[in-house]
Amino acid sequence: MVTTIQFSLLALLCLRLAGPTIAKDSSHFETYGIDVSFPIQDRVSTNYAHLDHNKYPEKFDTPPMYDAMAVQPLGNRLQMYTDHINSCREQFVPSNEREFNCDQFEYDRILMNRRQPQSMVNLTEFGFKKIQSPPHLKKLIDQFWKENKDKGKNEAWASGNSYVNHWDSPTTLVSVDDRGLRGSGGRLKEHIWAAASAVLEEWTQVELQPCSLYGIRVYHEGAIMLPHVDRLPLVASAVINVAQDVEEDWPTEVYDHQGNAHNVTIRPGEMLLFESHSVVHGHPFPLKGNFYASIFIHFEPTGHTIGKNESGFFYVKEEDQRKSSWSDSPKAWKDANREYLSNTKQGFGGQSSSMEGGLPPYIKRESPEEDHWLAFHPEGWKTPEKILPSEAHVAAKTGQLDELEEKLKKGNREILVERDENGYQILHQAVVGGFQDVVKMLVSKGAEINARTHGGYGESPLRIAEREYGPNSPIVKYLKGQGALSIGPEL
Ligand SMILES: *[C@@H]1O[C@H](CO)[C@@H](O)[C@H](O)[C@H]1NC(C)=O
Ligand SMILES: *[C@@H]1O[C@H](CO)[C@@H](O)[C@H](O)[C@H]1NC(C)=O
Ligand SMILES: *[C@@H]1O[C@H](CO)[C@@H](O)[C@H](O)[C@H]1NC(C)=O
Repeated sequence: MVTTIQFSLLALLCLRLAGPTIAKDSSHFETYGIDVSFPIQDRVSTNYAHLDHNKYPEKFDTPPMYDAMAVQPLGNRLQMYTDHINSCREQFVPSNEREFNCDQFEYDRILMNRRQPQSMVNLTEFGFKKIQSPPHLKKLIDQFWKENKDKGKNEAWASGNSYVNHWDSPTTLVSVDDRGLRGSGGRLKEHIWAAASAVLEEWTQVELQPCSLYGIRVYHEGAIMLPHVDRLPLVASAVINVAQDVEEDWPTEVYDHQGNAHNVTIRPGEMLLFESHSVVHGHPFPLKGNFYASIFIHFEPTGHTIGKNESGFFYVKEEDQRKSSWSDSPKAWKDANREYLSNTKQGFGGQSSSMEGGLPPYIKRESPEEDHWLAFHPEGWKTPEKILPSEAHVAAKTGQLDELEEKLKKGNREILVERDENGYQILHQAVVGGFQDVVKMLVSKGAEINARTHGGYGESPLRIAEREYGPNSPIVKYLKGQGALSIGPEL
């Protein structure tokens, strides 16, 4: 169940500011907005700086065709785009009604770029952040790469897919599901999910569930990827540079929530966290070098916040409460959390029933995406099914000291190490619930004081206590007195 990190009102104390880490070329850094590197929401800009109305604005009026068109600092991008789309059209001529052509893909790409960013609940201020990938995660992926890097298979792109120039520069995929590869499969995936979700939950402060993880994609010389947003429900994502052999860095162009482009270079061992459903991203400049290998990991929010208030980064709007979700009205958000709190105290998965059957929590009400999404999901969105927690987990979370003592007295010691689906042991649950008597008893009976959630990649009990109850709370003082360490995923 949603273990959690929730009890959000208290967790506000440790709201973190998550800003992007941007490698700037300080000598002449100049950003630009959409429709400059490629068509993103409209035509690509042909409003060159050398045109008379830009050079001598006092003498020449701006011709109407350039009204509201950003100045183009990158040269003739229209030519670059025309070449791309023409070679796509030559390559793919649909042979039946079910095959799409390049123009249909482009139409769809632009439409999604227009519709999604404005319709989504923003989880963070900028929408992306670069970090070092956690050492465990890096080791795991490096190992898989080392053993299988020459066994990638050509990636099958749909006929007419214009997002990547795969017909000129085919990509290969070292799939985590490829049974023929050493170390592939369930265990590897579980570890990657656990490590990545710990980091992304820390960053977004919402609970996440896995959506998609294919493997390591290898791009080769000349590859480009057009700026796009990911299809729902790929909302919170991480991309890790696994290995590269390049002559020049190959940055990912990322548009922050304010609409400005950034070149974010991630080198081997670095990781980019981004809200991939609303943050436009791509590789508009061709790869110079031999290869660039990266892995994408995607998650969907479950609808449970893990501690953020209205001056955090959720979209906030005063409106009719019946129409609002927890995510876009402070009042509804508080109510949902109060309901959650009371549900978890009673020992069952707390979920605001008002969210059932409606929109997913990450789509804004009355946004263009609302109609679009509902048209394709007439049955509505359901909070993902949760595995029921064990009796001991419920007892710990609700402070049932006697019940737990009884179980332990009967020799039922495995309850100390059992984990729920998020990797919480009962000590974590007792800390979340704020039950110091239970915490003390469990520690005295030998509970692992520094055990981490999320398969060993998440938080230690002390870190949870600090986050939930603040650095001076009795429970924190107690844990510190016992030698507990404050450990969590580092951003
Ligand atoms: C939200 O939390 C932050 C950090 O604790 C605090 O500074 C801010 O005042 C809070 N805002 C509201 C509206 O409660
Ligand atoms: C959220 O970010 C998108 C771009 O990613 C932007 O269009 C939208 O205005 C932002 N919403 C708010 C409330 O800032
Ligand atoms: C990104 O890099 C390209 C190639 O060096 C450069 O032309 C462009 O201006 C950069 N974009 C940003 C937003 O810095």
